[in-house]
Amino acid sequence: MAATVIDGKAFAAKVRGLVGEQVSKLKADHGIIPGLAVVLVGDDPASQVYVKSKGKMTVEVGMKSVEHRMNSDVSEADLLAMVQSLNDDPTIHGILVQLPLPDHLNSDLVINSIDPAKDVDGFHISNVGLLGTGQKAMVPCTPLGSLMMLRDHLGSLSGLNAVVIGRSNIVGKPMAQLLLGDSCTVTIAHSRTKDLAEVVRRADIVVAAVGRSQMVPGDWIKPGATVIDVGINRIDKPEGGTRLVGDVEYESCAAVAGAITPVPGGVGPMTIACLLANTVTACCRVNNLVEPKGLTA
Ligand code: GUN
Repeated sequence: MAATVIDGKAFAAKVRGLVGEQVSKLKADHGIIPGLAVVLVGDDPASQVYVKSKGKMTVEVGMKSVEHRMNSDVSEADLLAMVQSLNDDPTIHGILVQLPLPDHLNSDLVINSIDPAKDVDGFHISNVGLLGTGQKAMVPCTPLGSLMMLRDHLGSLSGLNAVVIGRSNIVGKPMAQLLLGDSCTVTIAHSRTKDLAEVVRRADIVVAAVGRSQMVPGDWIKPGATVIDVGINRIDKPEGGTRLVGDVEYESCAAVAGAITPVPGGVGPMTIACLLANTVTACCRVNNLVEPKGLTA
């Protein structure tokens, strides 16, 4: 039987709807407008597209959107001063410094200068530690979106075998922590993993987050498994032009899996929706208000 296609676009629209309701309530009941600031250094075209899309959706859900563009040769001191001014601004509840930063800037230093309570990316070491110890954290957006889709499709994840392929700080590691938090038996696989095919074949849940186009073939997938494809890779089409593909071979995996996220239209749209969700969550936390249900891990 063909796999259920998990529609991330529709799911993200639902999450943005919930965020919009919360924003309206915050305004009506408390006179508070959640604010998200994005800092973009340099003129990387892909980053510019992301940032534009983030700004548009932030405004659509009724939040304040602020964008700061800085030259690619900005000094670390000036960037840190910008982050500090946003930390000090009470109208800003979420801060995102778009990555990657130019080589002369220390990304870790910059990320760890963000107030952890406003760190809507969940990349600050405090949030990494809170997540790893099962405490209330800001959770990275892509893993959070992936978890929401898994819970929605499977209900309880308890006791399931999950394999996360990829060990990045942005996706692989926090994803593994979230799956562990939902009582999965978790394996983190990576480029040095021996017999990756056998490891993946044991998994009820496969999260592919390696950034290598179509590297997981269908014959690695356990029949009925749920496949979350985090990859977004642009490849050339034989007839000319390009197209987006994920880290799994969609057709062959969809023939075996129980459910699968497509690329595009799967995890991608959930990332921005979760950024907006995290901003509302941060706003509620700093104001000691009840956090919205369904928008956090
Ligand atoms: N660059 C690409 N994706 C992201 C993201 O989710 N957060 C940040 N800060 N930079 C990114």
